[in-house]
Amino acid sequence: MKARIIGTGSYLPKKVLTNSDLEEMVDTSDEWIVSRTGMKDRRIAEGEHTSDMGIAAANAALKDAGIAAEDIDIILVATMTPDYIIPNTAALIQASVGATHAAAIDMQAACSGYLYGLAISKAFIEAGIYKKILLVATEKMSSLVDYNDRTTCIIFGDGAGAAVITNEGEGLLINDVCLGADGKQADLLTVPAGGSRQPSTETTTAQKLHYMQMNGKETFKHAVRRMEASSRECLEKSGLTEGDITWMIPHQANLRIIEAIGKRLKIADEKVFKTVHKYGNTSASSIAIALDELLKEKSVSSKDNILMTAFGAGLTWATAIVTRT
Ligand code: COA
Repeated sequence: MKARIIGTGSYLPKKVLTNSDLEEMVDTSDEWIVSRTGMKDRRIAEGEHTSDMGIAAANAALKDAGIAAEDIDIILVATMTPDYIIPNTAALIQASVGATHAAAIDMQAACSGYLYGLAISKAFIEAGIYKKILLVATEKMSSLVDYNDRTTCIIFGDGAGAAVITNEGEGLLINDVCLGADGKQADLLTVPAGGSRQPSTETTTAQKLHYMQMNGKETFKHAVRRMEASSRECLEKSGLTEGDITWMIPHQANLRIIEAIGKRLKIADEKVFKTVHKYGNTSASSIAIALDELLKEKSVSSKDNILMTAFGAGLTWATAIVTRT
């Protein structure tokens, strides 16, 4: 009774923020952004919010799975940009999609949230607690970004992805999920104000403490090392080698990070699925969106293995290996 993903969906807002738009906003250039990050465009939510994007992705995943919303047992939402502190975003999504029998909870593991959600879904299903789970990753990163700060505003974008996970049916078997964290590096990526330690005030807002602050260089090094190590751990746990991987979906943080992981793991570049050039870093949503696009754009055959590896603030990291039935 292995847990499996039987449907996926994603949603990207229409507004495109290009490198030339960013050239008008901060002291940067298309050449600098492309050479340092591989990013050209990202999507920005205008007049729509984290829950709205999550609802669109959730409805698409339910349709793809052929599952009625009222049959869902629990909705798990991975986000670090919830609509509100309370209520949780999962409850907003539950009401809108009509999952009247579902429990609803948000999970915060930054960019690793979707894979943490896969691990939790696998545990719920394989313990026999729930049979049908809706996992949604949705992020409005533009709400945390200071568009005067060239070190962060070029990187992040908005979007959502979702998956329906069940105990039966055709799909992607969730073989193993390996999770990790290192809270000693918490200072590398933070939003200092707006939580209970430092509630937002006029002073914190004037000091821009409600925006994301990032040590890019250190984060970069950890991202490569942690995703490589986590991928190796999960391959070993699954009894697989790099050669058994048909597709790899790394967190879409930066093309240089993605290429470095592929190289270290000796996974050919054409097997590494990328959306970073068109959507930037959409945090928890990045792998959820990429998985949906991979399944719809490429041929994934029976017994093909997909390795997904994520890294984010916390620090947190995770790798999942799934196999097409
Ligand atoms: N445009 C032009 N110049 C920029 C710039 C921009 N958007 N952002 C920074 N610079 C400048 C810096 O000020 C610095 O100038 P200096 O040498 O005069 O001091 C120079 O470019 C080099 O900056 P540096 O930070 O060393 O660049 P980098 O090669 O490390 O690239 C990142 C910066 C942010 C792209 C890169 O570190 C990165 O992607 N880190 C990981 C971030 C991440 O993935 N975060 C999310 C994790 S889930």
